[in-house]
Amino acid sequence: MLITRCLRFSSCARTTTQVSRALDHQAFSPLPFRPVAARFRSSHHVAQYNGPAPIVAVVGSGPAGFYTAQKLMRDIPGTKVDMYEQLPVPFGLVRFGVAPDHPEVKNCQDTFQEVAASPDYTFIGNVNLGHDLPLPLLAKHYDAIVFAYGASKDRRLGLEGEEKPHIYSARAFVGWYNGLPEYRDLDPDLTAGETAIVVGQGNVALDVTRTLLSKVDVLRKTDITDYALHALSGSKIKHVHVVGRRGPMQAAFTIKEVRELLQLEDVNFTPIPNELFPADLAKLPRPRRRLLELLKKGSPVKEKATKSWSLDFLLAPTFLNWSAADPDRLEGVTFSKTRLEDPSSSESPVVNTDETQVIATSILFRSIGYKAEAILGMAEIGAEFDQGKGTIRHDGLGRVVPVSQSATVGNGDGNGKVAVYCSGWVKRGPTGVIASTMTDAFQTAEAIVEDWKRAYASNSGPESLRGGWTGVQAEAQALKLPLRPLHWDKWQKIDEAEKAEGAKRGKPREKFGKVSEMLEAAGVTVHPNWYTTTEKGRSN
Ligand SMILES: Cc1cc2nc3c(=O)[nH]c(=O)nc-3n(C[C@H](O)[C@H](O)[C@H](O)COP(=O)(O)OP(=O)(O)OC[C@H]3O[C@@H](n4cnc5c(N)ncnc54)[C@H](O)[C@@H]3O)c2cc1C
Ligand SMILES: NC(=O)c1ccc[n+]([C@@H]2O[C@H](COP(=O)([O-])OP(=O)(O)OC[C@H]3O[C@@H](n4cnc5c(N)ncnc54)[C@H](OP(=O)(O)O)[C@@H]3O)[C@@H](O)[C@H]2O)c1
Repeated sequence: MLITRCLRFSSCARTTTQVSRALDHQAFSPLPFRPVAARFRSSHHVAQYNGPAPIVAVVGSGPAGFYTAQKLMRDIPGTKVDMYEQLPVPFGLVRFGVAPDHPEVKNCQDTFQEVAASPDYTFIGNVNLGHDLPLPLLAKHYDAIVFAYGASKDRRLGLEGEEKPHIYSARAFVGWYNGLPEYRDLDPDLTAGETAIVVGQGNVALDVTRTLLSKVDVLRKTDITDYALHALSGSKIKHVHVVGRRGPMQAAFTIKEVRELLQLEDVNFTPIPNELFPADLAKLPRPRRRLLELLKKGSPVKEKATKSWSLDFLLAPTFLNWSAADPDRLEGVTFSKTRLEDPSSSESPVVNTDETQVIATSILFRSIGYKAEAILGMAEIGAEFDQGKGTIRHDGLGRVVPVSQSATVGNGDGNGKVAVYCSGWVKRGPTGVIASTMTDAFQTAEAIVEDWKRAYASNSGPESLRGGWTGVQAEAQALKLPLRPLHWDKWQKIDEAEKAEGAKRGKPREKFGKVSEMLEAAGVTVHPNWYTTTEKGRSN
């Protein structure tokens, strides 16, 4: 196990210092009372466990947070989970990412609701960790913290003018149509021209494309926001180029999402040139073979089609071309034609050639991946954020490696450090569907359970002395921190109000697009000067 962990760590780390930190961590000796420091102690298998249950803070209420909580509460009965969420509403990307026309994907919320129904679970919404509540304060009141806060930024192309109007990140656009408060006022201009470019060929790019090309009457029956419907019904976009820097063999999207686009009513697909496909598809692994067969087949020409889309391969964007008359009007994008070093490999690197191609467009969506960022105060509790990878450094199983073993955070009674773990996209990077996030979250929960049981195997008590949310609240009050937490019952009120609004419109729900609206629906008095970090405009 030790070897596996070290190998995993070294394969994702760049320096020997980091590797030796991981090794150091394996030998981390336990502190006298709290189980925290004992978590890396190599020890015997724990057959039966009769010890106390931990009290755990989970930061983030997306799939990673809920699945970690679920397994923890199941594997050590009595485990208390306090789940902190920056927004008043739970579920992360299940609410704010998953496409409105994929309602079946949101069924995982049923499981999350079951978790939330446990008396050992507390939802603490509208609290942005690191901003509203300092991490070191949180750390004092828990046996363990699990970072499951996802990826709340997006990657940039690094092109000049990328911040100008008519360039949108997929994260902003998706957040906007799904009611994410941060992007309530994005108001994308879909009327400047008939062509759009989406850079990136992952499933998010296909979600964006499908939303742009779907009939508004189809979307109207989903939980897409009304303001997005309004903007989409006035859209002039007729063709979407989905542009990738590599070829069909390397595309990141999956077959189901391609098929959905090919089947869109009155939307044509531009055939892909034959020479872009490997000569012998039969030799490929089944999933890639089926995907390429589908791409090669395309879709029959639809006589009544008014819109179309294409997959444009082997193009890397190099310049944004702005109108000479109006420097804020996008006219097109210049791409470098690229060459694959090993066209037959799905991992092939790509190099730019001297040849270029210009695609005229008035709007560009950048869909090249999300990006996580550090939470303020992480280093103070022994967590290290890898800026290069955009993930929290961990041992491969979700155990977070402290910057320095002496970075002790007192727990009020002076006993020990807090254990820190990570789960989901902030652990492994912004890829993977809900099912893989679940597997990943279970892995982290298993690490916590294993560490906890080892530490307490021969200990019948005492119960955790940490105060959890009660302790946090008392200390926050003493420090006059302006926390405005919302618990599950308040979310349920928001949920009911959204469903009632939706019913009036013949859709599953009408989401509140502003934090203040959510709070009002929850029956919380909103003061005009309340500072809501989650509503603060961030660059897209
Ligand atoms: C556009 C899009 C569409 C997708 N569609 C599908 C799909 O159809 N099917 C599928 O299986 N998968 C889909 N996925 C993937 C799926 O959404 C992810 O695998 C999953 O949501 C990752 O879970 P997570 O909990 O790590 O992160 P998230 O879901 O992002 O949850 C993180 C949570 O942490 C909260 N948070 C962030 N910072 C703080 C803070 N400082 N304090 C407190 N809380 C904080 C956030 O508000 C959020 O609620 C999609 C992803 C995207 C981006
Ligand atoms: N329906 C669903 O199940 C669904 C829906 C949405 C999202 N998701 C999941 O959510 C995860 C995130 O999806 P995603 O689409 O954001 O990410 P993704 O799958 O990682 O795709 C990112 C795309 O951006 C390209 N890219 C990255 N950097 C680039 C650059 N500098 N220039 C040009 N192109 C660049 C990548 O090309 P290279 O390969 O060349 O790097 C790739 O085509 C994925 O696991 C996805 O499957 C699932």
